[in-house]
Amino acid sequence: MILLTVLLLACGSSKPRVEYVEAQQGIVILPVSQIADVEGPTAIRLGGPDPRLPVWLHASEELDFHAIATRCHRGRCGVRYEPDDDRFVCSCTDEEFRPDGSAVERRKPPLVTYPIDYRNETILIDLSPAR
Ligand code: FES
Repeated sequence: MILLTVLLLACGSSKPRVEYVEAQQGIVILPVSQIADVEGPTAIRLGGPDPRLPVWLHASEELDFHAIATRCHRGRCGVRYEPDDDRFVCSCTDEEFRPDGSAVERRKPPLVTYPIDYRNETILIDLSPAR
């Protein structure tokens, strides 16, 4: 089992936090207690030594989770989270994406997303087969 140091930067939250999560064969394991104090829909940027990170972890108010690449489909521009609109926005083109990674403009390709599972108060993000 490999331990990764993950830097959690809560967007809209005042304090960046450094936490440890476990990763095994490309699976990031994150206790939901790490984000339980964040109110409303939010996105947390997960970063660390794994080259597949960082990813955005989006949490809805109902605790539905999505894991989304922090770069757009063309791979050259960063995607930031806009908490007021609960949207991801390309830093180069201002294209908008919903929390599930789909483009607001219908003909645009979606952002890369990663399979995510939430059970027993734990979030598992599978970084291996990007979709
Ligand atoms: S360059 Fe890819 S969405 Fe902007």
